[in-house]
Amino acid sequence: MIERTFVMIKPDAVVRGLMGEIISRIEKKGLKIVAMKLHHLTEEEAKELYKPHEGKHFFNDLIEFVRSAPVVLMAVEGESAISVMRRLLGSTDAKEAAPGTIRGDFSCSKSMNLVHASDSPESASRELTIFFKEEDYLKYRRVDEDWVY
Ligand code: CMP
Repeated sequence: MIERTFVMIKPDAVVRGLMGEIISRIEKKGLKIVAMKLHHLTEEEAKELYKPHEGKHFFNDLIEFVRSAPVVLMAVEGESAISVMRRLLGSTDAKEAAPGTIRGDFSCSKSMNLVHASDSPESASRELTIFFKEEDYLKYRRVDEDWVY
């Protein structure tokens, strides 16, 4: 099933110059980036995005961290995009992430783990609507022709 998921390249990856590497891996996997913006999260946006973690011991540090530099916000589409994207990232704790995954190759940290991706269809829908409107999602074909790549 074709799914749409929310992906955020976090401040650690942006500051370390890993945006291109991460975007490249998403593209090479065959997923399509249908919306994208470089953005500095407001406190409200950060708290809304991570609402399910409110009250956890790392919540305040997480909010501070994701607002420490710009992030890249993306909507990513493709076959089983939600689970495929999570597998591309590897385990949340980058120390445990397998080599070959984005976290496994570029991080050893649980908090600074480079990229966020939605963990379920419900999360994807909730997270996408914080940052994107329906008209932000672009199609990869001419509107007047059915080109399939
Ligand atoms: P992410 O996929 O963005 O979803 C929630 C984030 O919270 C997670 O990646 C980590 O960056 C962070 N996180 C989760 N668990 C911990 C933890 N135990 N300590 C610090 N940060 C955490």
